[in-house]
Formats: sequence, C-alpha cells, structure tokens
Amino acid sequence: MTAQLIDGTAIAATIRAEIQAEVEALREAAGIVPGLATVLVGQRKDSQTYVRMKKRACEEVGIASFGVELSAEISEADLLVEIEALNENPDVHGILVQLPLPAHIDEEQILGSISVHKDVDGFHPVNIGRLAMKGRAPGFVPCTPRGCIELLERSGIEIAGRHAVVLGRSNIVGLPVAMLLLHRNATLTVCHSRTADLPAVVRSADILVAAVGQPEMVRGDWIKPGAAVIDVGINAVDDASAERGYRLVGDVHFEEAQAGAGALTPVPGGVGPMTIAMLLRNTLDSARRVPGSA
Ligand code: GUN
Repeated sequence: MTAQLIDGTAIAATIRAEIQAEVEALREAAGIVPGLATVLVGQRKDSQTYVRMKKRACEEVGIASFGVELSAEISEADLLVEIEALNENPDVHGILVQLPLPAHIDEEQILGSISVHKDVDGFHPVNIGRLAMKGRAPGFVPCTPRGCIELLERSGIEIAGRHAVVLGRSNIVGLPVAMLLLHRNATLTVCHSRTADLPAVVRSADILVAAVGQPEMVRGDWIKPGAAVIDVGINAVDDASAERGYRLVGDVHFEEAQAGAGALTPVPGGVGPMTIAMLLRNTLDSARRVPGSA
C-alpha cells in the first residue's frame, strides 16, 4: 500500500483563491481592505524569510501588509510602544510578531500586549485559554495547528472517535493542535521527551501529528497501517548532492512512512504552505469583525 499524498501546496492554493475572492467581496461591499502588520526584530535569516513569504502572500490575495522592522537591540519598552501603535491603527486588522524574539525580550509580555482582537497568530494567553476550554471560542486559532486540521478535513479524514497522537507539546504547535483534535472528538495522547516506549504509543495512532523538530525521527515501523500522518517538522539536513548543500526533511521518515500510512503530508509542500494560508484566513476573519463590514 502506498499512502495517499496530502498535497498541502495544492490545498493551500485553493484556500488562497477562496480568500482572494472573499477579500475582493469585502472591499466591494464595505470598502474594507484587510491589513496585516508583521513585526520583525533583528536579522535572523529564517525569520526574514518567513516574514517575506507572509508579506508576499498578503499581496497576492489583496491583503495590505505593513512591515515593521526593528533592531535586535530594541528595548522591550520600545517594542511595546510599536505594538501599541499597531493596536491603535484602524488599517491593521492583524498583528504578527515573528518568533523567536531576542533573548533580552520577554516573549510572554510581548504576546500579551497584542490586542486580542488583532491576535492573528492566536498566541495571546486569552485566545490560548479559550482554545483550551470546552465551549469557548477563541478569537483566533494558531495558524499551523489550524492548517493541520484543515489538511485532515479537506482530505476527508475522520477525526471523531479516532486515536490521535501528537508528538511534541510546544505552545506554537503541539499544545494547540492537541486542543483542536480534542474539540473534534478525537481520543488524544500527547507524547514528549519523557514518554515511555514512544514507538509503541505512536503505533497506536489512527492520526499522527509529528511536531518535535527531530529529522526523520518517526520510522516506518512506528506507523499503524492506514494511519493519517501530518508531519509538521521542517529540518535542514546536510546533503552534499543538493545544490544548496542541504535538504529539508520532516520529523517522519517519508519513504518508510509512505509504505504503510494511509495518508501522509510531504516536507516541504505539506503543512508549511498551510500556515501562511491560515494567517491570511485569520486576518480576513479579523477584518470581517470590524463594525459595518457584514
Ligand atoms: N515562529 C515559528 N513559527 C511561528 C509562527 O507561527 N508565528 C510567529 N509569529 N512566529 C513563528
């Protein structure tokens, strides 16, 4: 059996086309152009790349982007002033502070200062708190976890009543994706570095979400035949035969998993494109909540 490929690039393109049409309709009906502010602190190459991709994706669907680029030496107080200005700016419907921040800045303080009404990353403690509770709707759901669920749902994979195993418990992916699976009535196990007999636990998964950042850690014989596998990892590994000297691999050994899984996301081209599509969706959702936009 060869796994069905869950094509995140194609699914994300469909979603971006849907968003583009909705952005245009909102502009025509209410004269509102959704706006996303990206805040980049410092010169990390990976963060610069992510922010550039996010801004370009905005332009392609008609969302206005506001780039704020700040020195790595900025004080926490000055960064808070920048965020407050964006909180007050009516043209900005979403604010994204690219992580990680320099070590001298308190991430919790910064994420908590973003207006809950503009928290399109879904990292504000109020939004995470609502996500964690039954019967509460967060204003925004974090983008990568929301993308994982969209991939499952748009691929026709049943979640309710199935055993979902989440590998990793980060604030950005593991924890929120676990909450989303639970809300959709999966039976849930969250694994981490202290989990005993990890391969055996993973082998019991009908749905596996791998988000640990360990290249090809999940081997083919860890996967239950027919399971759906969502690989969130994006790891660069040395490869002398590749043009850039490295290649990207997931947390799952792709070739081995392909032989047994029922459905599988590739890396790249699986979850990655979905993260940005969900950021656009969250920004549009936020603009729609502006009084008079409906
Ligand atoms: N750094 C890694 N992932 C993310 C993300 O989803 N949002 C932000 N803001 N920073 C990140």
